Amino acid sequence: MVLLKTMSAKSKYTHHQHSGIAMPNNSNNRKVLLGEDELPKEWYNILPDLPAPLPPPINPATREPVKPQELERVFAKELIRQEMSQERWIPIPEEVREVYRLWRPTPLYRARRLEQYLKTPARIYYKFEGVSPPGSHKPNTSVAQAYYNMKEGIERLTTETGAGQWGSALAFATMLFGLKCTVYMVRASYNQKPYRAALMRSWGAEIYPSPSNKTNFGRSLYEKDPNHPGSLGIAISEALEDAVTHDNTRYSLGSVLNHVLMHQTVQGLEAKRQMEMIDEYPDIVAGCVGGGSSFSGLFWPFYYDVYVSKKAPKMTKFVATEPAACPTMTKGIYTYDFGDTAKMTPLLPMYTLGSDFVPAPIHAGGLRYHGDAPTLCLLLKKGYIEPHAYNQIEVFEAASIFARTEGIVPAPEPSHTIKYVIDEALRCKRTGEEKVILFNLCGHGYFDLQAYLDYFEGRLQPFEYPEEEIRKSLERLKSELPWIDQLPYLKNL
Ligand SMILES: Cc1ncc(COP(=O)(O)O)c(C=O)c1O
Repeated sequence: MVLLKTMSAKSKYTHHQHSGIAMPNNSNNRKVLLGEDELPKEWYNILPDLPAPLPPPINPATREPVKPQELERVFAKELIRQEMSQERWIPIPEEVREVYRLWRPTPLYRARRLEQYLKTPARIYYKFEGVSPPGSHKPNTSVAQAYYNMKEGIERLTTETGAGQWGSALAFATMLFGLKCTVYMVRASYNQKPYRAALMRSWGAEIYPSPSNKTNFGRSLYEKDPNHPGSLGIAISEALEDAVTHDNTRYSLGSVLNHVLMHQTVQGLEAKRQMEMIDEYPDIVAGCVGGGSSFSGLFWPFYYDVYVSKKAPKMTKFVATEPAACPTMTKGIYTYDFGDTAKMTPLLPMYTLGSDFVPAPIHAGGLRYHGDAPTLCLLLKKGYIEPHAYNQIEVFEAASIFARTEGIVPAPEPSHTIKYVIDEALRCKRTGEEKVILFNLCGHGYFDLQAYLDYFEGRLQPFEYPEEEIRKSLERLKSELPWIDQLPYLKNL
């Protein structure tokens, strides 16, 4: 390894002026590390750089775009400002960078052992976000959100969690800034992952399996079926109801919204520097999509190079992966839909399976949301993103290959991307192409070992979601809100 600051003038890397630790791409080194002083100072906001204006969220009562003031009972004011900001670069407060330093910058690994196992000429890199204390990329935004709420005098945050990753991340962040935290956890995940709840409690949060008997909406479902498996849409409704019915309480969302995705860009900004240090540039940037935050956090800064500054040396391809059991990008319909099941949120422009979608209990809990981020959906609609869907058996097969070569046991969510990466690397083997593939290993799988047991013991089902159900759900929405089709915002996309 070479410390760049002190490198000799002969080195091919001297012009980059990094203080991190680098490896030439033909060395045997496994990772590229940045120093703490190279932690990004600004987040990248894609809003001014989208190929078309982002269709606005709609208030279903007025049928008009939502006004910032209407969101103030739900979110911290600074987060609403960021949500709508057209500034390309937004400064990261020093207090947030200080917390990021607990685990950031995260390492960029070269997956050499996986490459050797596959005998591929492709060069595979992964940005590992599993080194954060909660074990995923989610604290990149929870820390920022808890900070701004604390600054505005808020005392408690409520949220939902699917796999438990987001709930853990918010519990961690609220603890650091002295706020209380209430988490509604999808019951199917709560039962599958009791240790996630234990982790959140260790950081002082209170957790309820959702549907719960704590909110009016939760009770309406819980009383009919105390074993209701729940869904992210239902848990969001409960967390929102709790926030708006209690003083000094706000709601916090772990994905989908613009400000959340923007906070995640620390990943892509770091990855760009790390690849630059080894004179590499990705042909493909890939990630998994639940709501789209981890993938967007990685690919937006590369999108900026390719389509905005036009300084990218390649036409990088952006590949998004998802479960066949929750195929929003590959089978969903692009329309306005609610973000939650109780229809409390504004209508969002997105690819959706219908807000009353209740997913099969697949193990990739974080990928079971019925919609996706409006920014991601616009880019997908405009052809900037290539989506792929996989069933959970093929996903765990890929995850096991990764664990047995690279050593890290991946979370089920990024294992969808690992499946894509392995297929692509094998394709490169057939064609002889030396593609550079970068993907986001956005979480470790050490709280998902029950899922691995179910896979090893043959208990996983290869669920696929029937298209018929999507059509029926959206017909229900359109019979309730027939004016949705008259809204002008999606017309010319
Ligand atoms: C490890 C991990 N990856 C991915 C996701 C999906 O969310 P997003 O698409 O917002 O990154 C989750 C969500 O909980 C997650 O826990």
